[in-house]
Amino acid sequence: MKIIVFFSGTGSNLESIIHQQKTYGYKVTGSFCNNPDAAGIKISEDHNIACYVLNSKNFDDRNEYDKKISDYLEAQDFDYIILAGYMRILSKFFVQNWEGQIINIHPSLLPKYPGLDTHKRALENKDKYHGTTIHYVTEELDAGPIIRQERIEIEPNESIESLIERVKSLENKIYPETIGTLIT
Ligand code: GRF
Repeated sequence: MKIIVFFSGTGSNLESIIHQQKTYGYKVTGSFCNNPDAAGIKISEDHNIACYVLNSKNFDDRNEYDKKISDYLEAQDFDYIILAGYMRILSKFFVQNWEGQIINIHPSLLPKYPGLDTHKRALENKDKYHGTTIHYVTEELDAGPIIRQERIEIEPNESIESLIERVKSLENKIYPETIGTLIT
C-alpha cells in the first residue's frame, strides 16, 4: 500500500508515519508541502522521501493551486493521500477527483469542533474529554466518514500546551496504525 503524505508544518505525524512504515506494511512514496518553511521538509528529505514543495502564498486562486497538485499526483504511484497537518482546505474538484482516497487527522472528537483552535475550544467549554479523529475527506470540512476516533481525559488545570502535546502523541501512535489497516 502506497501513500503520499501532505503536511504544512512541524511534521510530527509525518515522522511517525515514516518511522512505522515497515511495522504496518505501507510505503511513503512521496510527500507534499505548501509551506517552504515547514520543519517537516527536512524530515522527509532525511528519510530520502522526495518532497514536492509548492508555496501556496504565491497563488491567489485555490483551483489553480490544487490543479498543480493534481498534475503532480497524476505522475505518482499511490493508493492514498494522507493529510497530516495539511492546513489548507482542498478545492471541490480536487476532493471529487480523489474521493475515497484522501484521509485526514483532525485534533478533536468530531463532529465536535471542526476547523481551527480545537484545543482552546475544548478547554474553554470545560469538556471532560478531547481527542483526535481520523476520517475520509469529503467536500464538507472535517465532516467525512470517521475511520477511528480516540479520546483522552482533560486533566484539571490542563494547559493548552500540554493538551496539544498529549493529543499529538496520541495521533502519532494511532495514525500509522490506522493507515496500516486501509485497504488497497
Ligand atoms: C495535528 O494535531 C493534526 O491533527 C492537525 O495538525 C497537527 C499537525 O501536527 N491537523 P504535526 O505537523 O503532524 O506535528
